[in-house]
Amino acid sequence: MPALTKTFFIKARDFAKAGESSLQIQSILKSIGFTSDLIRRISICAYEAEMNVVMHGGNGELLLTVNPEDIVLDVNDDGPGIEDVELALREGYSTATPEYREMGFGAGMGLPNIKKNTDSLEIDSHNGRGVHLKMSFKVEDS
Ligand SMILES: Nc1ncnc2c1ncn2[C@@H]1O[C@H](COP(=O)(O)OP(=O)(O)OP(=O)(O)O)[C@@H](O)[C@H]1O
Ligand SMILES: [Mg+2]
Repeated sequence: MPALTKTFFIKARDFAKAGESSLQIQSILKSIGFTSDLIRRISICAYEAEMNVVMHGGNGELLLTVNPEDIVLDVNDDGPGIEDVELALREGYSTATPEYREMGFGAGMGLPNIKKNTDSLEIDSHNGRGVHLKMSFKVEDS
């Protein structure tokens, strides 16, 4: 039985609310008392995944699961999907529009940072049927 699960909804192009789920996740993990390094890594991944749904995806949801041994973030959206996942994982690759770049996004570093900060990462994408990211983080005994 998982110790805790919580679902957050993400709305496409809703920049006013973008980033809120990651902040809530951060505060939940803090209140449970995980180490600051683990919380930092999870917050980075939650934020990057959330922003990708807002910018590139469709409407979606983020599911946080806290187990005794690991913490899992599942992110699903119903947007256009990623055509070439391997290419999308490359540092600097971005399809962000000039408008998004002006807002400070589009460095093409979100997915590479997610890759770097997860203990395991699965990316499932079907053209026209959105993206599913599964990010897992080990909980080390302290
Ligand atoms: N949820 C998604 N739906 C559709 N395409 C996506 C999604 N997430 C990522 N992508 C594609 O993968 C590319 C790389 O994503 P990544 O997060 O690395 O960079 P970025 O979002 O373009 O820029 P940055 O994250 O640095 O602001 C995106 O430009 C986009 O083409
Ligand atoms: Mg991104």
